[in-house]
Amino acid sequence: MTRPIRLMLFSGLVCLALGIVLSLIMPETESDGLILGEDIPYYSLPWNDNPFFPGEITTSDGLLANWETVPSSEFCAQCHYREYEEWVVSIHAVSGPDIIYETAINANEHAHDNRHGTEKIRWCDSCHEPLLTLMGGVNPLPVVGPNDAAAEGTSCIVCHTAVASKPLAGNGALTLAINNINNYEPALILAAPAEHARAMQARTYNPLMGQSELCGACHTEIRPLAINGDEPMNLQDTFDEWRRSEYAEMNIQCQDCHMSSNPAEYIAALNRGEQPERVVSHRFVGINYLLTAADLPDNLVVFLRGGHPPGDIPRDEWRASLLEQQHLILSLLQEAADLALEAPETAVPGEELAFDVTITNSGAGHDLPTGPRDQRYMWLEIRVTDVNGDEIYHKGWFNEQTGEVDPEAIMYLKLLYDEQDERITEHILFDVDHIEYTRNPIPARSSDTIPYVFTVPVDSQGPLRVEVRLWYRLALQELATYLLKIDVVIPPVVMAETAVEIPLQ
Ligand code: HEC
Ligand code: HEC
Ligand code: HEC
Ligand code: HEC
Ligand code: HEC
Repeated sequence: MTRPIRLMLFSGLVCLALGIVLSLIMPETESDGLILGEDIPYYSLPWNDNPFFPGEITTSDGLLANWETVPSSEFCAQCHYREYEEWVVSIHAVSGPDIIYETAINANEHAHDNRHGTEKIRWCDSCHEPLLTLMGGVNPLPVVGPNDAAAEGTSCIVCHTAVASKPLAGNGALTLAINNINNYEPALILAAPAEHARAMQARTYNPLMGQSELCGACHTEIRPLAINGDEPMNLQDTFDEWRRSEYAEMNIQCQDCHMSSNPAEYIAALNRGEQPERVVSHRFVGINYLLTAADLPDNLVVFLRGGHPPGDIPRDEWRASLLEQQHLILSLLQEAADLALEAPETAVPGEELAFDVTITNSGAGHDLPTGPRDQRYMWLEIRVTDVNGDEIYHKGWFNEQTGEVDPEAIMYLKLLYDEQDERITEHILFDVDHIEYTRNPIPARSSDTIPYVFTVPVDSQGPLRVEVRLWYRLALQELATYLLKIDVVIPPVVMAETAVEIPLQ
């Protein structure tokens, strides 16, 4: 036996012994939660007596989570480094500090200076900063001390204490059994790993961990009446879109795609009719190719992610892993859609050329696009050139200098308007009065066909080349220019492309 292993075994045994002793002498703490008024004075309950309202997230004992004891990802990383390393490059790790989110919250003119301004943020924070909400941190008077986990957003302990979910209620509708201090003692963990696994809702004990319902609580966003409007307004419906899809029938959950170590490969195998083996990963690969762009100059990615990562992952390892995440994201976007182009065999100069483009949502387990569709959007670019490469038709152009997209493009975007019918382009959701789609999103495994027609110039020389591209963009340019005030054009990425040549008669 080599020395380090013997040492490890020895310290393991000491921990075990200590754990048994500790578990015998320590009283069984029922709850470590804090009581409103008693432990947390001056906490503001503006609308009703649910301390987390208008968020839907709550604790199993109804008490506030204790900011002194809730463990951070760094704590879990001591023994689960792989999960930590994957999670730390995910968007969940920055759902709070993400600078776009922070700026959106602070740009809200109702925030902080208005009646209930701060409390209204509990709605946003119940998904983006669930622990801060549960600790009572989202309050006009700062009555809660600093906590590393609260600053992380969707940290390990959020999902791993979730005992119940009401996905269609949304707004973070999870119940967390988070107030048991005994769960967070390393010695006790090692003394009784099965107890710990149960407390951390290991999938074998808690089936919810394997079900879309867990994710649905935060992937359903509904603006409550208390915030604004005459009726609740659904702003994100990813869970419900999935629930109505074939994937729900096929028992393919969010976790199956998004917690696969390579979601694009997993989906490709599914589409080949295989039953692919899944390797669990905490990267939660999605679409945010900007918050993973570690190769941007001036440390921009650190700025966008709201700072350096928690824990002691070496910086170059983190950067390399972010780029790997971006690579997985771009592959997933390319696996999401198929393009087909149906055009006549020949065309005639001086006459109309008509063709159809069909987009199929072939890989997403929900509508395409999904999520906050007032920012995430896609559009079609059609470019026709003659034999000399001269452009004779172009729809759906993108201006790389200004970030502008052809206003005549076929576009999948949700337009938000306030009461005065002014467009809201910066994702400030409080004042949205009505919504319009430029074109409806495409449900899972469905298609959308778009007819195009144009007149071939009389002097054209064939063959013509028709190129079709489906673009995806993370956010509107307004988000960078006016909200973040950074001089960066948000680049779009190609999801799918195809081309045909058409001879002229
Ligand atoms: C002191 C070491 C230690 C710490 C700290 C620790 N764990 Fe564990 N964890 C273990 C051990 C040991 C097991 C049981 C081994 C096993 O079967 O995976 C385990 C099991 C688990 C499981 C069940 C795994 C399965 O097989 O399904 C989950 C989930 C889990 N831990 C989550 C967490 C989270 C979240 C944290 C941070 C709040 C954490 N752990 C902190 C040591 C630790
Ligand atoms: C967004 C929710 C979410 C977050 C955040 C999260 N987990 Fe998990 N975790 C899950 C789910 C769901 C599973 C079960 C996956 C499955 O088997 O399908 C899981 C499984 C695990 C397991 C079991 C081992 C495995 O790989 O199957 C461990 C250990 C674990 N998580 C630790 C962590 C740690 C440590 C963190 C933080 C660094 C973390 N988790 C963050 C949802 C989450
Ligand atoms: C506590 C709330 C919460 C839970 C639970 C949760 N999420 Fe999320 N998730 C978020 C938030 C908030 C964001 C967006 C963060 C941002 O962009 O700042 C997000 C983003 C994502 C993204 C997009 C990543 C990207 O690259 O843009 C994916 C994919 C995702 N979640 C999948 C899941 C899956 C799968 C589960 C269930 C295992 C889950 N989420 C559970 C809150 C949650
Ligand atoms: C069959 C695989 C599959 C399943 C199941 C699935 N997704 Fe996705 N998801 C994708 C693909 C592909 C994309 C990228 C295309 C897109 O944006 O829709 C994606 C994108 C996302 C995004 C980012 C969307 C955006 O454009 O901002 C979120 C968030 C997300 N999924 C959450 C979920 C949740 C929550 C569930 C379960 C209710 C789920 N997904 C189920 C394949 C899947
Ligand atoms: C129901 C949970 C939930 C609530 C409530 C919620 N969000 Fe989000 N938010 C999400 C999810 C999930 C995503 C990302 C999904 C995706 O990538 O498709 C997101 C994305 C965002 C983004 C884009 C971040 C980026 O990096 O691109 C911003 C900004 C944002 N939310 C701001 C807000 C604000 C402001 C509020 C309150 C007015 C709010 N959110 C309320 C779940 C929520």
